[in-house]
Amino acid sequence: MKLDLRQKFVVGNWKMHTTAAEARRLAKAVVDGIGIKGVGVRDEARVSVTICPPFPYLALVGKILNGSRVSLGVQNLYPEKEGAFTGEVSPTMLLDLGCKYVILGHSERRHKLGESDAFINHKVRVALAAGLDVILCIGETLEQRKANQTEAMLDRQLTCGLADVPADTLTRLSIAYEPVWAIGNLEHHATPQQAQDAHAVIRRRVAQMFGEKSAQALAIQYGGSVKPENAAALFCRDGVDGALVGGASLIADQFLAIVRAAISASQTQENSTTTAA
Ligand code: 13P
Repeated sequence: MKLDLRQKFVVGNWKMHTTAAEARRLAKAVVDGIGIKGVGVRDEARVSVTICPPFPYLALVGKILNGSRVSLGVQNLYPEKEGAFTGEVSPTMLLDLGCKYVILGHSERRHKLGESDAFINHKVRVALAAGLDVILCIGETLEQRKANQTEAMLDRQLTCGLADVPADTLTRLSIAYEPVWAIGNLEHHATPQQAQDAHAVIRRRVAQMFGEKSAQALAIQYGGSVKPENAAALFCRDGVDGALVGGASLIADQFLAIVRAAISASQTQENSTTTAA
C-alpha cells in the first residue's frame, strides 16, 4: 500500500449564499465545533480547515475566525494591485482582511462567467506573488467525460493554469479536482475510484511539470457533492487529500462531520504508516 501522509485540507466554499446574520451564525458554529469536538493538538496537525464566505462578509467572518483553527479564504480576486477596475477586489485588499487562501478557476467562473485558462493563470501567478495561497480548481464536463476527454482536459487546465508558476511557490498551491457534472448534483457524484483516478492523473502531470517531489507534496482535494455520507469513503483513497465543499459547508453540522471524517482518515493513514515502519 502506498503511504499517504499529506495533511488533509477541508475547505467550505459558501458561494453566493448567506445573509450577514447567517454568515455570523455559521462561522461561529464552525469555530465552536472545531474547538470542542475533541480535536486535540495532534488532530489539529492532521487537518487544515478553511471557510470562504462571500466578499461582503469577509471582515465579519474574519473577526470570528481570528485566533481559531479555521482559516479565512476567498472565492475570487482581480489580478491587479489597484486601479480603475470598477467592482473588482485586489489581492492586497484581501490580505488586509486576513485572507490566507483564494479559490481560482472554479468551474462556475469558467463556465458561467467565461474565465479563460489564460486569465486564470494570470490570477494564479498574481495571487501567489502577492502572498495568498491558491486553490486551483479544474475538472471536466459530463460531455468531456463521456467522450473520454477527462485526462486531456485536466492536462490542459493544469498546463495552462500553472504555466510560468515559480516552482518554489508550489508549496502554497493546492488543486481541487471538481468534475463539473458532480457539483451540486447528488445523483451524479463521483465515486471514490473516479476521484482517485483523476487525482493520480493530476499528480502525474504536476510531476512532469514540477518534479516528483513537488507532486508528492501537493494537496489535491476532491469537490462535487461531498457530504457526511460520502466523505469517509473519499478521504481514505490514496491521493485524496481533502475536500472543497459547497452545499454541505452551509450547514455547520454537515461541514463539521466532513472535517471529522478527514481527521479519522488521517489517523488511520498515520497508524498504517506506524505499523508499516
Ligand atoms: P457542492 O458541494 O455543492 O457540489 O459544490 C462543490 C463546489 O463547487 C465547491 O467549490
